[in-house]
Amino acid sequence: MKVGVVGLGYWGPNLVRNLTSVDACTGVVACDLDESRLKRVLQRYPGIHGTTSFDDVLDDPEVAAVVVATPVGTHARLAHAALRAGKSVLVEKPLATSGRDARALVQEAGRLGLLVMAGHTFLYSPAVQVARELVHKGAIGRPLYLQSSRVNLGIHQSDVSVLWDLAPHDLSILLDCIDERPNRVSAFGRSTLRRGPSDVAFVDLEFPSGFVANLHLSWLAPTKMRRTTIVGTRKMIVYEDTNPEEPIKVYDKGLNRPAQDELDQYKVTYRTGNVVAPRVGTWEPLGAQLQDFLVRVAAGDTPDKREQTAITVVDIIEAAEESLALSGQPVLLSESGPIGASPASAASA
Ligand SMILES: NC(=O)c1ccc[n+]([C@@H]2O[C@H](COP(=O)([O-])OP(=O)(O)OC[C@H]3O[C@@H](n4cnc5c(N)ncnc54)[C@H](O)[C@@H]3O)[C@@H](O)[C@H]2O)c1
Repeated sequence: MKVGVVGLGYWGPNLVRNLTSVDACTGVVACDLDESRLKRVLQRYPGIHGTTSFDDVLDDPEVAAVVVATPVGTHARLAHAALRAGKSVLVEKPLATSGRDARALVQEAGRLGLLVMAGHTFLYSPAVQVARELVHKGAIGRPLYLQSSRVNLGIHQSDVSVLWDLAPHDLSILLDCIDERPNRVSAFGRSTLRRGPSDVAFVDLEFPSGFVANLHLSWLAPTKMRRTTIVGTRKMIVYEDTNPEEPIKVYDKGLNRPAQDELDQYKVTYRTGNVVAPRVGTWEPLGAQLQDFLVRVAAGDTPDKREQTAITVVDIIEAAEESLALSGQPVLLSESGPIGASPASAASA
């Protein structure tokens, strides 16, 4: 099918590059308001079409699906326009900037018999799929907590905070592994360089099962770190996206249940076993995500539990922003509990 890509800034050209090699895509219409950005992409991919008007994309009857890669604040408006024009939409992360907007998009897509999907690219990462599989099959025992750091000297976005920019990655990975909505969120952060959205944030999450998580997100750090630790009762996983050789390590480490000795004192003993680096595939996550989107569109899919997860990501960031404005005061989330199936299983199927 023919696919429209709107937004050719930093990320859009990666979408165009991947679409030109996805089997199900027979043509691309690239669109950006900025003529120089459009020209650059058309020069690089001479076989595709281009326009500076989103309406041209919407009016093209051959375009069945649209990918939105514009600034976060424009996502909901452009995605609604695409749905109303009868096109399914892949919206780059995050789906929208409020839970209300995200729900409205998902509801409208369902009502029209179309698909709206969020671009949670990391769910298609081979390393994340290995980590998820390990957690789901109980290899680490009962999951206890997750800690992640996604920091570097990053591109400062002018319209949104570091939470809206980076947290969708960690939250989508977290929800994919844990399958549960948190009930409580608190966040603390600062805009260190200017007045406006925070560029450094620390987020704490509590789940009804007792699981807890902490995310450190920052555009201001000396080195690039993409590290997630998931600790379970039996084993611990460390996922480092910056280590292409061994992105996943499973540590057979933990504490043995404390036993009372004869003097009635608790004695903790430690267990340290092997460290295993499982084999991880090498496909490009963005290509797998686009492939999955087009397969779902071709199958006539409408939103399912995967899109509920995308709404949960937005709900959590919205709550985190609220907490941040209250200097870290916890914010309660409604509808906490299990969220069900995940996109990763569909991608790897
Ligand atoms: N999945 C990922 O790993 C990943 C990585 C980076 C960015 N992103 C997402 O991609 C999106 C874009 O980010 P970016 O860094 O490329 O932004 P950017 O600001 O570099 O580019 C956005 C482009 O959209 C264009 N645009 C805005 N409104 C438009 C409209 N109405 N019609 C046509 N063009 C329009 C702008 O001219 C600009 O060229 C964001 O949602 C971001 O969160 C995803």
